[in-house]
Amino acid sequence: MTKENSKILISAAGGKVGQHVLAQLAAKNIPARAGVHSEDKASALRKTGAGAVVLDFENPASISAAFKGIEKLFLVTPGSPEQRRFEENLLAEAKKVGVKRIVKLSGKIDEADTVGFSVWNREAEKRIKESGIPYTILRGNFFMQNLFGSAAQIKQGVFTAGPAAKRIALIDTRDMAATVVAALTEEGHAGKVYDLNGPELLDGYAQAAAFSKVLGRTVKYLDVSAEAFIGQLKTFGLPPWLVDAFGAAVSSPEIPGDQSSATIEHILHRKPGTLEQFVKDHRAAFEVSL
Ligand SMILES: NC(=O)c1ccc[n+]([C@@H]2O[C@H](COP(=O)([O-])OP(=O)(O)OC[C@H]3O[C@@H](n4cnc5c(N)ncnc54)[C@H](OP(=O)(O)O)[C@@H]3O)[C@@H](O)[C@H]2O)c1
Repeated sequence: MTKENSKILISAAGGKVGQHVLAQLAAKNIPARAGVHSEDKASALRKTGAGAVVLDFENPASISAAFKGIEKLFLVTPGSPEQRRFEENLLAEAKKVGVKRIVKLSGKIDEADTVGFSVWNREAEKRIKESGIPYTILRGNFFMQNLFGSAAQIKQGVFTAGPAAKRIALIDTRDMAATVVAALTEEGHAGKVYDLNGPELLDGYAQAAAFSKVLGRTVKYLDVSAEAFIGQLKTFGLPPWLVDAFGAAVSSPEIPGDQSSATIEHILHRKPGTLEQFVKDHRAAFEVSL
């Protein structure tokens, strides 16, 4: 929805969660300003009727323009060594303009990790708590939408993300977004840290079974050790910090924190979506074209 008087700023509004926050707020006729990384992306969104601005986390002028008149912020930064610098820039502006609520996209935090996503999210949560701005922190489980990155493998009938035995309550980013919308627009979420999970704990074989069932052909999960998986990542030309981050995530035998969907059900008054439903909704991305 285009509104010059938007009080809500969505950072990374083209990202896996941000795009759905934007769409769901628009569906509720709640004005919001979409902050995206480039003018091309802002102009594409404006053509759809969205109120979009460039919000480059490294560019102070874009940050101060994007925050003008803003009272609530959905805060997303990419998991990387830049996260600290990006968030310091955004938090400084949020304080300057008097933002009254931050809803922060965080992840599961393994206290034993010394590198990677757990460390970046742990530090981010601390910074937000210390900012003095009322917050809601959403610790999302592994997103189902990450599986788009395995689509080429799934089309060929076999995929992997490390040891098959690891069970994950994968969550659909559309449900993450619905929780963000609730935290931004409803009472009762200030000062809360929510563990958000999908409805089922699925090991690799169960994930593959969901694809097989919906696609009507056999999709297998390839059981590989964490070490072998990290070895494969190194051959993909990823930067070392990203290999280390994925390495830390894949090496932990379990996802840390609460794994039930009780919290998200309490917030949304419904069950979150299943992996089967996600595959049905995005069948074309995983189907082999003839
Ligand atoms: N992926 C998961 O399974 C998962 C689960 C739980 C929590 N999380 C947390 O969610 C956060 C984001 O994760 P993600 O990377 O998977 O999600 P994402 O939101 O899909 O991707 C990151 C977004 O940041 C934008 N961005 C990057 N650099 C930017 C800059 N300098 N200025 C403005 N925008 C910039 C990217 O835009 P462009 O593409 O246009 O550059 C992209 O939209 C991380 O903190 C992560 O720990 C992720």
